Amino acid sequence: MCGIVGYIGNQQAYPILIKGLQRLEYRGYDSAGVALITDSNDMVVYKTKGKVSDLEDFVQSKDVSGTVGIAHTRWATHGEPNNVNAHPHYSQSENLALIHNGIIENYAILKEDLMKRGYTFKSNTDTEVLVQLIEYVKVSNNTDIFHAVQLALTQVIGAYAIAVLERNNPNCIVAARKSSPLVVGIGDDEFFLGSDASPIIEYTNRVIYIDDDEVVRLERGKEPRITNLNNVEKPHQIMELEMSLSELEKGGYQHFMLKEIFEQAKTVRECMRGRINIDRNTVAMSGIIDNKEKFMNARRIIIVACGTSWHAGLIGEYLIEEFARIPVEVEYASEFRYRNPVLNKDDIVIAISQSGETADTLAAIELAHNQGVFVYGICNVIGSSIARNTDSGSYTHAGPEIGVASTKAFTAQVTVLSLIALTIAKEKGTLSKELFESYVTELSSIPDKMEETLGVSSYIEKFSGIFTYAKNFIYLGRGYNYPVALEGALKLKEISYIHAEGYPAAEMKHGPIALIDSEMPVVVIAPNKGMYEKVVSNIQEIKARKGRVVAIITKGDTAIKGMADYYIEIPETCECFVPLLAALPLQLMAYYIAVVKGCNVDQPRNLAKSVTVE
Ligand code: G6P
Repeated sequence: MCGIVGYIGNQQAYPILIKGLQRLEYRGYDSAGVALITDSNDMVVYKTKGKVSDLEDFVQSKDVSGTVGIAHTRWATHGEPNNVNAHPHYSQSENLALIHNGIIENYAILKEDLMKRGYTFKSNTDTEVLVQLIEYVKVSNNTDIFHAVQLALTQVIGAYAIAVLERNNPNCIVAARKSSPLVVGIGDDEFFLGSDASPIIEYTNRVIYIDDDEVVRLERGKEPRITNLNNVEKPHQIMELEMSLSELEKGGYQHFMLKEIFEQAKTVRECMRGRINIDRNTVAMSGIIDNKEKFMNARRIIIVACGTSWHAGLIGEYLIEEFARIPVEVEYASEFRYRNPVLNKDDIVIAISQSGETADTLAAIELAHNQGVFVYGICNVIGSSIARNTDSGSYTHAGPEIGVASTKAFTAQVTVLSLIALTIAKEKGTLSKELFESYVTELSSIPDKMEETLGVSSYIEKFSGIFTYAKNFIYLGRGYNYPVALEGALKLKEISYIHAEGYPAAEMKHGPIALIDSEMPVVVIAPNKGMYEKVVSNIQEIKARKGRVVAIITKGDTAIKGMADYYIEIPETCECFVPLLAALPLQLMAYYIAVVKGCNVDQPRNLAKSVTVE
């Protein structure tokens, strides 16, 4: 995931581009760059590893004049984050500069071909191949940049949103897209480009959404020209965005929470991108590989976190112990920090936090550091305190989570933990080749299965209203789904103010069964894996006491369908990845119950997104 932004008009481009990059920084954070046609009609490229603020520092005392420019914020896929791999990339002659969001799948073949023709490459990126190819096509066909982009892209397999500047053609930006988003903003004698409308909406609400396989030319004083790759003109519709910036960020959803629930197939896909290679059946979490010895020799892993992140940690315990055979303990950061825990030098602490700012988790990290223990962070917010205060770590790449009740950050955390467990297992050889590969394949299929799971939304919306009467809920699950039960109950509590308790299903007989009567809704996570028969018995016990059962079942299950009052089907997957699917209907249920009750879903009472005080 990268962010691209562009400007051509009468204003100074650089401040607009920088502001745009800041808005898009959630899309990529490891390097940033800008290309400008300066007032002296020269083309300059400035780029650096780091955040947009690092780029701002980098360009101080450089010429950033000019009314035409493109800019990029990167999330590395091909080539590590460094100054050379940062965008924009020059062509061989430095006549073209290009920014790119996406992945060029056939870059190796294209690169080999270009090298045979005498092209040399400075970076390890697929993007440099693209800009060299466009230059080669332009020169060999003796054509203009717009046509060269059309022709070059017919040879390209993959995903891209690109923007190109040409040194000798200073009044024009050419852009194109396939599978990566691209929006053009239409101002007064000026045009804007963005990966989404957030860098644009401040200046104009008139936008054109560029479609797949379309190429657009933005030229001073002319209408935008949009064609397909065969140079056939494409009619374009200017959309009037009637929303404010904050509404726009909801992407048309009524609440951020709903938007974020629906984003999960995408965010889990982004979280795995560049880390999992399905063709080669490999998983590589660079933070783990960089500290391989530590993880190989770890005697124990202690996960510290709060709230939803703690629930993700519990699933991490199951994953790491099963895959990598390292003992794991999961602690509330708030308890760990005050209870004088016994720590050894060969322990590893993993701190999980969406915001990266939770005070208790920060204090737990400090305690571990004071005792000489290596701390690994799993954070969503780039550059946050926890990300900076840990020795190494992995970002979840879920993008900004605005709804207070965490949804997409949770599934991204579980995904990262799955990738970590698989990476350690591979290094330690604790899983057979067959099992490892089957897990890689299955994990890669989860985003598609999440999309399928979200298809049940309208059914959940219909029946959820029935439960607004309830004062209490019980959530039950076993094994990997016990933490999912806890998370489902937390979601309901947070946003609907209904008291809910999550329990390991077998523990029901040790207390909660006393609460069950015809008024009590019991949500049971009952996939066809793990201790299925035992969970079926639990459902019978609930029904015998007239409890109302909502069951999360695997598609095709007929036994539970006949017993449950309501059932929600999720696609088949292996036991260890069921939480990534089962969490979704529980989030939706909490959401719809809260909406029917008229609760403020995005800002529930007394709660905060980031708890920076004790
Ligand atoms: C608050 C939020 C929760 C979150 C918890 C931990 O309670 O409302 O959604 O799970 O803090 O936050 P963190 O940012 O550390 O994951």
